[in-house]
Amino acid sequence: MNTLVTGGAGFIGSTLVDRLLAEGHHVDVIDDLSTGSLANLTEARRATKEFTFHHADLRSPDVVDLIARRRPEVVFHLAAQADVRVSVARPAFDAEVNVVGSLHVLEGARSAGAAKIVFASSGGTIYGAVEPSHLPVKESHPQRPLSPYGVAKKVVGDYLYVYRELHELEFTALALANVFGPRQDPFGEAGVVSIFAANLLERRPCTIYGDGAQTRDFVYVDDVVDAFARAATRGSGLLVNIGTGVETSVNDLYATMASAAGVTARPKYAPARAGELLRSALDPGRAAIHLGWKPWTSIEEGTAAALRWFRSRSG
Ligand SMILES: NC(=O)c1ccc[n+]([C@@H]2O[C@H](COP(=O)([O-])OP(=O)(O)OC[C@H]3O[C@@H](n4cnc5c(N)ncnc54)[C@H](O)[C@@H]3O)[C@@H](O)[C@H]2O)c1
Repeated sequence: MNTLVTGGAGFIGSTLVDRLLAEGHHVDVIDDLSTGSLANLTEARRATKEFTFHHADLRSPDVVDLIARRRPEVVFHLAAQADVRVSVARPAFDAEVNVVGSLHVLEGARSAGAAKIVFASSGGTIYGAVEPSHLPVKESHPQRPLSPYGVAKKVVGDYLYVYRELHELEFTALALANVFGPRQDPFGEAGVVSIFAANLLERRPCTIYGDGAQTRDFVYVDDVVDAFARAATRGSGLLVNIGTGVETSVNDLYATMASAAGVTARPKYAPARAGELLRSALDPGRAAIHLGWKPWTSIEEGTAAALRWFRSRSG
């Protein structure tokens, strides 16, 4: 199958590229390398016949023709301005990449005659503040995003319906929980696992904002990539949560990772960040029914793999 991955040099995208190549698919990547890196594609670039990298910015209308020419059957759209705080500081820039850039991808997929687009949405932001009684949150929950980033993800979800109705371009939107694992940037804002991993291995103190009782739904990157691969042929016309349904507090995450890294020091506590969600978890029931998907990696296994990866890079 001919596939195209936007954001394929990033953390999740490059892991998806490796999986698609391992399954024998042809993969084109579009990425501007703004947060992604060619180092993430070292293995992929060895597959010279099956893999092509295009250095391009989704904000450019040229991307429409580029996608049309490559004639992918399935487009995996993961490229994004993925930092919530940047979206608050620079909402117009966020919309240029995440809304206008996504429209260029949709237009390209339509012109290419692609059968399907699989979109990386965000379960942590599209639903907004969820009442504790509604956790883990289901896809039927109203969408009230509280950041420009969340608005952009919601709006692209709406455009996907429009393209399905107007142009018969099939879609699945995956609402991802907090993804973690090898290749996650420890300097990004979302990657608490990689920030802890980098600090623990350097024996630097880890900082927890607030009292550490805030919870997140941590899902391992290989499990997430499995959901993308399944969504190439399943879950059409749906928004599908990709999470574990389990809340893990930041304090518990620290305890698990510190013990695996052989660190006994306590974390440092700093004032809570304004606007941070207190609790978050996604109900993965729809993914089980429509994608046949379940997360299989425990937080202990996944964080151990992240620590091994960071250790191998620093060693
Ligand atoms: N990591 C998470 O926990 C998480 C959670 C929910 C949703 N998501 C979504 O999943 C997707 C992948 O996230 P990630 O964590 O791998 O982030 P990432 O920053 O590693 O990957 C994003 C990729 O998009 C590329 N990119 C950014 N702007 C671009 C542009 N204008 N043109 C072309 N390429 C551009 C970057 O260079 C990078 O390679 C994003 O859409 C993100 O919003 C991630």
